[in-house]
Amino acid sequence: MLATDESPIGRQKPKLLPLFIYPNPILHKVSTDVETFDDSLAQTIADMFLSMKHYGGVGLSAVQIGILKRIIVLDIGGKPLYYVNPKISVSELPDKFKFNEGCLSVPGYFENRERPNLISVSYQDVDGKYQVEAMEGLQSFAFQHELDHLNGVTFVDGFSPLKKELVSKKIAKTLKRRSR
Ligand code: CO
Repeated sequence: MLATDESPIGRQKPKLLPLFIYPNPILHKVSTDVETFDDSLAQTIADMFLSMKHYGGVGLSAVQIGILKRIIVLDIGGKPLYYVNPKISVSELPDKFKFNEGCLSVPGYFENRERPNLISVSYQDVDGKYQVEAMEGLQSFAFQHELDHLNGVTFVDGFSPLKKELVSKKIAKTLKRRSR
């Protein structure tokens, strides 16, 4: 749909930003609402798209590249999507979506998880205009994962100390392999 190195929303030249890796304490900070809808917001979103593509994810939250603002980007089926100040309402239905959950900030570790399937989302666009969207499947799963990041939560936070040690080992091994 869009070239990967172009901003889908503006003329900004996107920059690659460094990715913060678990257990960096920034990942446990709560991000704050975006209040100013200006060029620097459009720039941040463009930087997020580029960084998500570069690191090979289907989703990214701003905190993962060091920006404590409530912004999410997704890349589902080649379609770049962004959400500013996203809010969620989860369907009462017992319907779940299962996926092998992973995270760019937790490289090399994956685990089968389920999350509510149908969600309804409200957010603001780059101009501050309010929007709503219903979603399901991978998009819903990824959105919920990224929204957790904005609240300072990663998908491995609830793990036992032993399991967290395993996660840290996986991360170290993966980073070592990548640096070769
Ligand atoms: Co993540």
